[in-house]
Amino acid sequence: MTVKAMDQLVNLEAYPIADRASPARQALVEEMGRIYARDGVCLMPGFLTDAAVNMMAAEAENASVDAYHCDETHNAYLEQDDTSLPADHPRRQRQLTRLDVVGCDQLIPNSALWSLYGWDPLRDFIGAVLGYEDFHRFADPIGAMTINVMNEGDGHGWHYDEAMFTVSVMLQAPDAGGQFEFVRGLRDSGDDNYDRLGKVLAGTAKDTTTIPITPGALLLFGGRNLLHRVTGVEGSRTRYITTLCYRDRPGVTNSPAVRELFYGRREPLTPVAAH
Ligand SMILES: [Fe+2]
Repeated sequence: MTVKAMDQLVNLEAYPIADRASPARQALVEEMGRIYARDGVCLMPGFLTDAAVNMMAAEAENASVDAYHCDETHNAYLEQDDTSLPADHPRRQRQLTRLDVVGCDQLIPNSALWSLYGWDPLRDFIGAVLGYEDFHRFADPIGAMTINVMNEGDGHGWHYDEAMFTVSVMLQAPDAGGQFEFVRGLRDSGDDNYDRLGKVLAGTAKDTTTIPITPGALLLFGGRNLLHRVTGVEGSRTRYITTLCYRDRPGVTNSPAVRELFYGRREPLTPVAAH
């Protein structure tokens, strides 16, 4: 897409990411990179224009009719239950996740959502913030870009992502709840800090952080090492958020287990164009 067309979707005045050579972009990359390195989370409010938010929320709503209903329990590591550990071990505690998920194989190719995800300057900007020269859109034919749809009572239990980092863009906020909540400094290199993890899972930890994600905001977070969840959605207004995935290597896809858990299928419904 041309910069002029992308100007309709991305707030390029506040986030001048179109021109790789511009000093304003470089300054933004450095500022966001500093925040991400410090917090493992970086929020960019008003990243999308209001018109884009409206368009993409409508696309999300249309596609949600065919969404997969995920209603599963899992541990915080999204791994198989390890029965060699005691039953009360934090690694064995089950978390409930209930939401509807739309895979990118269910989105029409010329949608605003695909235009955003397929725009190279966005990929390059995210890569630059994370410190990657060579950066790629995720190759998973279902999970490269997804829409999470949450209605009243839905939520996403505490977990670490399979992916090192994730980009989420809020398209429509619920009346209440549906908050993104995370725990800083829990999983440091080689230490799972099970005592503290147990408190978080039991709901007795006092040191969790909630970040307010308004419609149009882009959130970059390092989900592999940052325990996070989405609290229960309240009210009749549906929460729509899109997740844009990238990797530092080409050709990477989700594991079959994660595809089964979140999309209910291991193969895409229809072949999607290479991107
Ligand atoms: Fe996650």
